Amino acid sequence: MVDKLLARATSPTQYDLDDISWSTENGLQSPTRKFFFDYLLGFKEEWRDSDILDIGCGTGWLMHLLKENGAKSVEGIEPSHKNVAYAGDNGFEIYHCDLDSFSEDKRYDLLISVMTFGHINNIDSSFEKMARLVRDGGGVQLIVPAYDYFKRERDGCKVEFEELNPEEYVVQVTREQGTIAEIVRKVEFYERAAERVGLTVEDSIPMVPTDSLMRDSPRHATFKGQPITYLVRLRK
Ligand SMILES: C[S@@+](CC[C@H](N)C(=O)[O-])C[C@H]1O[C@@H](n2cnc3c(N)ncnc32)[C@H](O)[C@@H]1O
Repeated sequence: MVDKLLARATSPTQYDLDDISWSTENGLQSPTRKFFFDYLLGFKEEWRDSDILDIGCGTGWLMHLLKENGAKSVEGIEPSHKNVAYAGDNGFEIYHCDLDSFSEDKRYDLLISVMTFGHINNIDSSFEKMARLVRDGGGVQLIVPAYDYFKRERDGCKVEFEELNPEEYVVQVTREQGTIAEIVRKVEFYERAAERVGLTVEDSIPMVPTDSLMRDSPRHATFKGQPITYLVRLRK
């Protein structure tokens, strides 16, 4: 069972499976995307005149927002055929590959990754890769799930958990719109991985529901004051 869940969670083409119906809206219509963006916006001074790589950019919704808010250039990595096809010709370079197989020739000022690391199995090699991709003095901003929040039961959803060790579990949630499996890790797990590859942890911000999220998606009001995700900020 655990092997099956893990295989799905870390398959770079999970988002191509028929039982996933992934939101293809662009822009900020989705309350959770707006929530992610609101937290990222708090650090938008780091986008100014920066070359940014969006790791696991999905359908590319964040890319033009980064550009409109000062980035010099924005590129993405995305392994799912469907997501790359949805992104289409959005005016940005999207490399159709996973982080592991992405070329190491380029360097960026900032790496941003929203809810992608739960699909990556080998955190040490991925962090080594990020440490090589980012320029000296550059940053990394990762949005990752909050350990306790993702462990909860959810109304109307089938939730399967398998604990991997005291800091990691794999969870698969099946809702009407489809099934998604991912690995959830304690934020300290990511912080230690960063330190091992020489990235300094600036902070890990608990992302508690914003007023706008609770208004537009009332089920999140139950978690008022509790982190749903973390924004982990690293520096080379
Ligand atoms: C939860 S989605 C988030 C997508 C996008 N960042 C967003 O906020 O809408 C996770 C994304 O990570 C991609 N992904 C999965 N494994 C990956 C890997 N090894 N390297 C890079 N991206 C990966 C998936 O295809 C998917 O688009």
